[in-house]
Amino acid sequence: MAETPIATEDLAALLRWYADQGVEEAVEERPVDRFALPPPAAVAATVPAAKASARPATPTPLRPSPLPAPAARAPVPIESPQLVDDARALAERCSTVAELEAAVRGFESCALKRTAKNTVFADGTPGAPVMIVGEAPGSDEDRLGKPFVGVSGQLMDRMMAAIGLTRDGGFYITNILFWRPPGNRTPTLAEQAMCLAFTRRHIELARPKILVLAGGTSVKAVLDTTEGITRMRGKWVGYRLADGTELPTMPTFHPAYLLRTPASKRLSWMDLLAIDKKLKELP
Ligand code: URA
Repeated sequence: MAETPIATEDLAALLRWYADQGVEEAVEERPVDRFALPPPAAVAATVPAAKASARPATPTPLRPSPLPAPAARAPVPIESPQLVDDARALAERCSTVAELEAAVRGFESCALKRTAKNTVFADGTPGAPVMIVGEAPGSDEDRLGKPFVGVSGQLMDRMMAAIGLTRDGGFYITNILFWRPPGNRTPTLAEQAMCLAFTRRHIELARPKILVLAGGTSVKAVLDTTEGITRMRGKWVGYRLADGTELPTMPTFHPAYLLRTPASKRLSWMDLLAIDKKLKELP
């Protein structure tokens, strides 16, 4: 029977499905159709006699591996409110950004960590006048272990440079999540709450003059609001620190949104000018 060619749109849909499942890297140049391969028994039967006789008649007993057996990982429950409390307590015990970073890197209870390649903690200068909090690492950030290094991060850098701020002393940048959700799935509430416990402490310890929340997810999580980004952006709000100080906070569009909707860059430019003005006014 003649094979029906697969339509391009079906192939594209299959590729999208793989990407959604987090399968994003090809291991070999060409795909291997394992259904088309003969079963292993058939392969053994076709080994030429010379090669076959070169094999030992009796199997060599396996020598014990010189390496220690990998420690069995205790199953970690992923959705317990206790884990969120644990994350909060751990974060509270940290009194410097470096301690917090070590705590986040050593935290094993967030399921996102198990599928991520790297912990993406922060970049730039802790203690810089501006701290930006984005949403979650993407594939570039996961690969390199730094926030905002992909195309949207490059746009973010250009926007900040337009008001004279660079990662080298001008701003500090992080996300509400420290690990990339597999296939960019929506993180569960517990995953968000665990990471947010650390992020809140991160803001306290970095103590910027101005906090910038990039994107609706970050605004909703940090400000604990259901209000959308379109209403919130461009208006100063106060983020209350533990000592009662109100940190001037600017919600703004996420650069990934600006890449999709360049017409909105005009509004983001106004947000940047407001940040620049506020920085000049603050002591
Ligand atoms: N988008 C984010 O919100 N954070 C990153 O680190 C990269 C892209």
